[in-house]
Amino acid sequence: MTTDRSPAPTAASTLPANPRIFSGIQPSGAPHIGNDLGAIRNYVALQDRYEAIYCIVDYHALTSTHDPDVLRTRTREMAAALLALGLDPERCTLFVQSHRPEVTELAWLFTTVTPVAWLQRTPTYKEKRQSQPEDVNHGLLTYPVLQAADIVLYKASLVPVGKDQAAHLELSREIVRAFNGRYGETFPEPRAVHTDAPVVLGTDGARKMSKSVGNTIEIFAEPDVIRRQVMGMVTDTQRILRSDPGRPEVCNVCRLHRFFGDDYEEVWEGERTARTGCVDTKKLLAARIIAHYAEPRERYLELMADPAGVDRILAEGAERIRPIARATMDEVHERMGLR
Ligand code: AMP
Ligand code: TRP
Repeated sequence: MTTDRSPAPTAASTLPANPRIFSGIQPSGAPHIGNDLGAIRNYVALQDRYEAIYCIVDYHALTSTHDPDVLRTRTREMAAALLALGLDPERCTLFVQSHRPEVTELAWLFTTVTPVAWLQRTPTYKEKRQSQPEDVNHGLLTYPVLQAADIVLYKASLVPVGKDQAAHLELSREIVRAFNGRYGETFPEPRAVHTDAPVVLGTDGARKMSKSVGNTIEIFAEPDVIRRQVMGMVTDTQRILRSDPGRPEVCNVCRLHRFFGDDYEEVWEGERTARTGCVDTKKLLAARIIAHYAEPRERYLELMADPAGVDRILAEGAERIRPIARATMDEVHERMGLR
């Protein structure tokens, strides 16, 4: 592997004494490099420094995915992908959201401290109303409440995510504040932790890399597919002729070189002086991405060939954190006057 996979957490200076890490990821099939550079690298780095819990959020996925077989398959694929990229069940907990259903109760309780207006103005809710107008289900509106419950059921305070999750995290903090305000100090306010690539642009060079946009570079795709995705990337649109000097700081291909290989300055210099052309720079990037993920890709294929092994890891994960979930719910029941 050519690149350092352990960026430092940006929020390290003001952490509580023993912060717990939590993050969730949708089972949306195999991940893309935006997921890795923006979030998964930090999952891996943080598992060595803190108690870390990572969750594949299948309840959340039900707001858009309605085919049971697809959901089951994607959940296992995401688990295998995270393990292949470096999550170690000895050093962190990896589980499936629906295997610890206490979270749905906490989410319900949180709905009673959450004004509807907060949810209606959430950017992702507004986007989903546009992108799936025939299916504006209640889960889409309540999505951030379940996300807040995910995090604080385990009293986690640091949440490694990409920048696109900023609004959700802010809402989690507001919900926690509302709960603590009404029932007394119960939960820490969770904070986002970003990598040095909090927003990775897609192959179009314009929008965030995202499966729903179709502008991804997939980590575990066949090398030919990765090559095709990279070669189709939009570069500096003002560089028309091969002899025109390029502007690496606005070229997404050049930006990605920062994360694959340790000589990006040289690559940038080649572009700036027109020593290299866009095609050369893309070919090099494709080769480096393929090499970077070659080992994880092999591990991914091995894991996918042993579904029972993956399922066992997930089941053990859910079991391991049961006592934390139970203790939180006991405390919440007591505070709210239930049971
Ligand atoms: P999702 O696939 O939307 O569940 O995202 C999983 C994680 O990857 C979340 O923490 C996202 O914030 C992060 N992520 C997704 N796309 C990008 C991107 N293009 N750049 C940076 N981070 C991303
Ligand atoms: N909303 C997140 C996403 O789309 C997934 C998620 C669900 C999450 N619960 C979470 C992320 C808790 C961080 C913490 O990527």
